[in-house]
Amino acid sequence: MANPEWGNQTVLMEFILLGFGNLPELQTLLFLLFLVIYIATVAGNVLIIALVVADQQLHIPMYFFLGNLSCLETCYITTILPRMLASLLTGDGTISFSGCITQYYFFGSLVATECLLLSVMSYDRYLAICNPLHYAARMSSRASLQLAGGSWVGGLLVNSITTLSISQLTFCGPNVIDHFFCDFIPLVKLSCNEPHLLETLAFTITFLFSLVPFLFILMSYICIIATILRIPSTTGRQKTFSTCSSHLIVVSIYYATLLIVYMFPSTDILSNFKKVLSVVYTVLTPLVNPLIYSLRNKEVQEALSKACRKFMFVSWTFSETIKQTSKVT
Ligand SMILES: *[C@@H]1O[C@H](CO)[C@@H](O)[C@H](O)[C@H]1NC(C)=O
Repeated sequence: MANPEWGNQTVLMEFILLGFGNLPELQTLLFLLFLVIYIATVAGNVLIIALVVADQQLHIPMYFFLGNLSCLETCYITTILPRMLASLLTGDGTISFSGCITQYYFFGSLVATECLLLSVMSYDRYLAICNPLHYAARMSSRASLQLAGGSWVGGLLVNSITTLSISQLTFCGPNVIDHFFCDFIPLVKLSCNEPHLLETLAFTITFLFSLVPFLFILMSYICIIATILRIPSTTGRQKTFSTCSSHLIVVSIYYATLLIVYMFPSTDILSNFKKVLSVVYTVLTPLVNPLIYSLRNKEVQEALSKACRKFMFVSWTFSETIKQTSKVT
């Protein structure tokens, strides 16, 4: 597969990320759009982490998992967007080889962690709704710590394997990555090694870390919905049903985009479509998840308004104190 123009295999030290093409007008628009998305995502997720940590009422497994999810998503979007914003601003997409591998390692690990954490969260809801009598015993604080910790460790470990194999590849040119971040398949396509083995690896890992958790989540939600339909009160039923269906929709979009991007073979037509799909799971999921999972939740809303009242009271006291002291002096 070696490129004939490069007789002596020069080892490339940097790549160029092509991003979304090079229309200058589009770059400014995209920069502003992604900047707003980035600020909103980080603000929303940090707010949720602060609420979960500060509010005693939210110290139960379900909210611990939501806090972990927000923490995960803040890191996740930070592996992609700041880099992308910088190249949209400067028009320079150059990234060093080690920078590229590092970005891929953190991004890939966090995707795998998210896949695991979302299934842990649906298992938690499944136990709470379908198996309420055993909930306290099965979801002890120790068990929730193990499940959350397991998701993080699992994600970081599995992606060490793919990152290690990527770093062994030989890149002998060209060095232009037709993507907006360093991802597995575009890197494999650029290398001059035989791609089959690595494509099979990506397929297997996506199968284990996306398809299996997704099927597991679907099954949990089927049990949850079946249980909800047996609730006698219609209002309670409607409320729970709307919560569950919105969770199911965001989860399905997330896993479906992952499955299409990593399990379907890349033809030229699919390749641009995959770039657009990548925006969904890298940028939109971290933005939308806190809205769907946390901020629509009644207890989180109560914690938020309690925190706002407290904040207002503190700032009022503070300004009064300043007024008093300025009068005295
Ligand atoms: C993540 O989950 C663990 C275990 O449930 C919990 O102890 C920790 O506080 C959570 N972290 C956040 C930021 O919510």
